[in-house]
Amino acid sequence: MAASGQRQVIAVSDPAALAETAADRMLARIAANSGRVAICLTGGSSPKQLYALLATDPYRDRIPWPRVHWFIGDERFVAADDPLNNMGMARRTFLDAYAPAANVHPIPTNAIDPDEAAQRYQGELKSFYGAEVLDPIRPLFDLVLMGVGPDGHTASLFPGYPAIEETGRWVVGVPEAHVAPFVPRVTLTLPTLGSCREMLFEVAGADKRAILTRVLDGENLPANRAHSTGETVWLVDQAALSENFRGQ
Ligand code: 6PG
Repeated sequence: MAASGQRQVIAVSDPAALAETAADRMLARIAANSGRVAICLTGGSSPKQLYALLATDPYRDRIPWPRVHWFIGDERFVAADDPLNNMGMARRTFLDAYAPAANVHPIPTNAIDPDEAAQRYQGELKSFYGAEVLDPIRPLFDLVLMGVGPDGHTASLFPGYPAIEETGRWVVGVPEAHVAPFVPRVTLTLPTLGSCREMLFEVAGADKRAILTRVLDGENLPANRAHSTGETVWLVDQAALSENFRGQ
């Protein structure tokens, strides 16, 4: 399928193919960096199949676990063991079994409030990166995974909310969500998420068709404002694509 602007759209048959393609892209990004690798995961239901795949033989053994660090692009402000916790889902699905504990970097939801959690995570990201300012030629992350919500949000950057315009802070608190689950959030901001070699969206299923159509039409939505300083890739399955975009 044709690229739209700087974005490349890759259509695959179904969610299983989508998870495999995402896993292969992740392994390629890891292989391309012989040093310390940083991957920013995402929450929601879309990446679950990918995370489960990473725990299986062909993938697990090809991940150099000691040198890969795992972050999260946004978090629901709930306890670490709450089923809604995004990093909790990733931990249960694959990280806790294989990643060294020191390489897993959750957003601290034991903070007093989302703003304090954001400040603490910003500090952790800056110390990992080793500088106060992001340099476009030295991205923070090798790979950033993303999803899109029904209102066009991505991470916890909701349409019309001030967080979407933030350019100074790396991480911000979001007191109220725009869609379910209605719990406060903590989210990396656009410049932080964009500081990566590759940003990879995963979009699957007929219930994503309406929002994907709006995204591909170029509407001003948070998900359309999220771009990598490197490659931006939208991996979509056939069920999510409307007639207009099939076979392009
Ligand atoms: C969250 C997410 C959010 C998610 C989209 C898509 O905490 O909810 O990080 O941005 O990626 O809402 O969610 P689904 O994959 O569940 O559709």
